[in-house]
Amino acid sequence: MSSMAYTVPDLPYPHEALEPHIGAETMRVHHGKHHRAYVDKANAALAGTGLEDAPPHEILKRLTEFPPDRRAAVRNNVGGHHNHSLFWESMVPGGSEGPAKDGKLMGAIRETFRGLPVLKDTIKEAALSQFGSGWAWLVHDGYRVLIVTTADQDSPLSDGLQPLLGVDVWEHAYYLDYANRRPDYVDAWLNVVDWSVVEQRYAAAPVPDVSGVLTRLVSVCGTEHEFGAVTLDEAREHATELKALTGWGPMAKVGAVARGWSDLAEQMRKHDVATVAELDPGIVEQAAQELWIIPPGRSMV
Ligand SMILES: [Fe+2]
Repeated sequence: MSSMAYTVPDLPYPHEALEPHIGAETMRVHHGKHHRAYVDKANAALAGTGLEDAPPHEILKRLTEFPPDRRAAVRNNVGGHHNHSLFWESMVPGGSEGPAKDGKLMGAIRETFRGLPVLKDTIKEAALSQFGSGWAWLVHDGYRVLIVTTADQDSPLSDGLQPLLGVDVWEHAYYLDYANRRPDYVDAWLNVVDWSVVEQRYAAAPVPDVSGVLTRLVSVCGTEHEFGAVTLDEAREHATELKALTGWGPMAKVGAVARGWSDLAEQMRKHDVATVAELDPGIVEQAAQELWIIPPGRSMV
């Protein structure tokens, strides 16, 4: 099995390429020693489990399948290997301006953060709030982008979240360059983020399978429609009809459902789509829950 063992990936740039933001010696030690140690210990932790060949991102979603005496070593070291592999790839000499202004990632960033400046402030705040060693992440939950932190080498994947961009806030990532000044390090790191890589990860992130939801029959303005075929005008009209019924004692849910239909119409207007089926799957799933077409609670990916 050792032929398939994990290896430390080559850096996509020379050690000194991220200077002055990240120093060559930091990169040499961080990539050459720390990442190497995670890889060696990950291979040892997986030996004999039958999962030696599984890719790290699969392992990290299946941690509970490992016996308790192995689980911590797997979580820490497969996590360390995967997190660092993502980390090297998400930096580029000279940095980059940001995601494409009219791209899908930028749209998702605007939904959650209004724009890139607030996203940067929030990831910095998260990075500073992480007590001790860990990471701050921009993640995708199948519906929207958000920021989370993880302790040690825990991966967002283990919580069902897709990591898009992570900043390593272990002291080994910055102590040589910034001593204990984590805020200065995070500011510097933001200068070398490769947003095109983040865009690629966003495009590849799993989304909920809503094909079954789109073919459900729903009653809209007294007529049966497939949910996916409902138009903007129909959603609006149905919301208006339901609002008129709000307050009728026996129909306790009707107010919430009316709001759900007007939220859905608003999403269709904002995203400029003709039918529900053209919306992003995450939005369809959320709407279907609000409208009681499917039960509330995540059923994603
Ligand atoms: Fe690290």
